[in-house]
Amino acid sequence: MKVMVIGGGGREHALCWKLKRSPSVSAVICAPGNPGIAREARCVNIGVEDLAGIINLAKIESADLIVIGPEVPLVAGLGNQLRSEGFAVFGPDKAAANLEGSKSFSKRLMYEAGVPTARFEVHVNCDEAIDTIRSWGAPIVIKASGLAAGKGVVVAQTEKEAIQAVKSMLAGNVFGEAGSQVVIEECLIGEEASCLFIVSGDTILPLASSQDHKALLDGDLGPNTGGMGAYSPAPCITDEVAEVVLETIARPIIAALKKKDAEFIGILYAGIMLTKDGPKTLEFNVRFGDPECQPLMSRLKSDLGELLLAAAERRLHDVKLAWEDGTALCVVVASDGYPNHFEKAQLIGGLDAIEAAGAIVFHAGTDEKDGAIVNKGGRVLGVTASASSAKEAQTIVYRALKKLDWPGGVYRHDIGHRAVTRENKQSTSI
Ligand code: AMP
Ligand code: GLY
Repeated sequence: MKVMVIGGGGREHALCWKLKRSPSVSAVICAPGNPGIAREARCVNIGVEDLAGIINLAKIESADLIVIGPEVPLVAGLGNQLRSEGFAVFGPDKAAANLEGSKSFSKRLMYEAGVPTARFEVHVNCDEAIDTIRSWGAPIVIKASGLAAGKGVVVAQTEKEAIQAVKSMLAGNVFGEAGSQVVIEECLIGEEASCLFIVSGDTILPLASSQDHKALLDGDLGPNTGGMGAYSPAPCITDEVAEVVLETIARPIIAALKKKDAEFIGILYAGIMLTKDGPKTLEFNVRFGDPECQPLMSRLKSDLGELLLAAAERRLHDVKLAWEDGTALCVVVASDGYPNHFEKAQLIGGLDAIEAAGAIVFHAGTDEKDGAIVNKGGRVLGVTASASSAKEAQTIVYRALKKLDWPGGVYRHDIGHRAVTRENKQSTSI
């Protein structure tokens, strides 16, 4: 079959990489793609916000399956439009994508469905929001309700910081329409993990667990980013925890959407905090995590094309998933200055040497200039390796990264630290 992937980040590179290796897939097309994706797929330069252009391309190509990677086109309704044209689509309709597109909708639905999550209030009025901050005290979490590319959340350690965040969103308009409503949340304490599910109607199939590293700097310090590295599996998600997440979080939220006539086909991503009172939901996304997708695709043994088509055609109940043992680990290389201003068009060398050292380089914000690879986005590369343990995978990736020839590229040096610490404890107790 011919599969079309929408998007041009590291997540889509990992999806195209895996699709190309799927026996059921004869051709992969990607819009818009990137120079790394061009090794796996035929790239067509149509942006993810050009819904009419994407639909036209799908018709020209007679795509058998369309996989929508990022949230922006999902929230804009690309899933509905493609389905109404008769295409098999992996990715939810607009009504279900609202679970990610509006944090106020998502939190209200969690409450209606009895899904464990942090206490919250939604505000549009600055003075009322400030009253809540003063009455709850810090630490406290302030979120822009709409899409803000992973930058709309402030975990405020002081009331002053929280008030400043609310003012910048509601009065200062820093996130535009996305920040015209704010969600104020109780601050949850614990270890975070990402629990992803392939959903098709009533069938909910858990993927292997994973863990992202949201903070920019080593030691989980600095501002939040879209994610600086990830690995799978996350040892904190034991079989028992996974079962609790499936039964108390995934199933009730999908049932609550169904009650609103919002059928879900695609990835349900639950960001989980493992609190002392059990797993609680931080957020829902309606697509693969980036960079979680890179280690997940590295570990998936099943035919990805067959799996996503089965979900799109509502026959996921026939499918079983298989995963490689061991750990896959991805370190994100970002442009120095990210998540704020950074210089573009810097030459990036050493990529072949990184791959020769046993890692895969998934491209995100790269571009090609005069035959060379340069940076054009904040998160640029996802250097990924698989091994029998987290420690070994970590060692391979960081050894390979020594070959990177890009002075303006920065990365964390401790991706996987929680899993490695657990492995070290286990080996000393044997
Ligand atoms: P979100 O986009 O809602 O997942 O938020 C981004 C990040 O902010 C999460 O991955 C957490 O690290 C942090 N965060 C969000 N909500 C909370 C909360 N209620 N308590 C503590 N940390 C949070
Ligand atoms: N890695 C976090 C996300 O994809 O939202």
